[in-house]
Amino acid sequence: MAIGKGFGKIIFFGEHFVVYNKKAIVAGLEKGISVEIIKNNDGKIILEPVEYRDSREKIIKKVMDYFGVKEGVTLKKVVSEIPAGSGLGSSAAFSVAVARALNKEFKLEKTDKEICNAAYHGEIISHGTPSGVDNTASTFGGLIVFQKKEKGNLIKKLPLGTPLYIVIGNSGKKGNTKEIVSEIKKLKEKNPKIFENIFNAYSSIFENAETALKNGNIKRVGELMNINHGLLSSIGVSSIELEEIVYKSRANGALGSKLVGAGKGGCAIALVESENKAKELSKKIKELGYDSFYSVIK
Ligand code: PMV
Repeated sequence: MAIGKGFGKIIFFGEHFVVYNKKAIVAGLEKGISVEIIKNNDGKIILEPVEYRDSREKIIKKVMDYFGVKEGVTLKKVVSEIPAGSGLGSSAAFSVAVARALNKEFKLEKTDKEICNAAYHGEIISHGTPSGVDNTASTFGGLIVFQKKEKGNLIKKLPLGTPLYIVIGNSGKKGNTKEIVSEIKKLKEKNPKIFENIFNAYSSIFENAETALKNGNIKRVGELMNINHGLLSSIGVSSIELEEIVYKSRANGALGSKLVGAGKGGCAIALVESENKAKELSKKIKELGYDSFYSVIK
């Protein structure tokens, strides 16, 4: 029997733009998904937990094929600390957890890079054409600059000038990443010039954000998160609930806030100055009727 874990993730800058080869800044969360897997003699994939059976079986199959594992396995248990379909990378965390558990159970001695690649194949089941940002953050954790590339993605650890206190608010609505990404593709095809301008604006946000994060200038990071949220709203991936969390966070002292992940539901994040402020803001968001927790990125 073997246990594997994948981190949840938050995208600070660049969801959707990363699909079109723009650089993104993403962080692994302490919270994630753990799975327990054991070899079986039936030669089949057997799932004991009942939730999401169909997609989980397909993800396990993809990861096993990638690793060349031919034996049967039983998924005994899934412990999830992050909500599904909420922009926190739960499907990638599941794929990474499966890859890590298979690696242990079959003594495959795979490197983190291979775990990440195997999880990418699992992600195809949930996301269709994933950029790779989720499985990367979910494998490596920490703060990362990610860029999708034809030959070998850019994966660079970003040194942080100061810890980041992040409050997460869940709109309670689920977004379908696969569908949303394909809607954006259509919108982009209809509006090439406008999207070119939006992408250029995003590239400036990224460059400024990378410097601000390195220098620990969190006020500036917050400002840039606000502008990034504006761009995401402009392409139609926000929602009434996300806007409420975003704007109420700002009204309650957040340095910046934005939706996170594919959008149209899922979560929004807010950057605050200290752990105390994170606790206070999380309480405020809960009072509005949304689930909330906070996390520190170091
Ligand atoms: O909502 P999530 O956690 O699945 O994040 C998806 C991020 C996107 O940029 C929208 C898609 C991708 O593949 O990068």
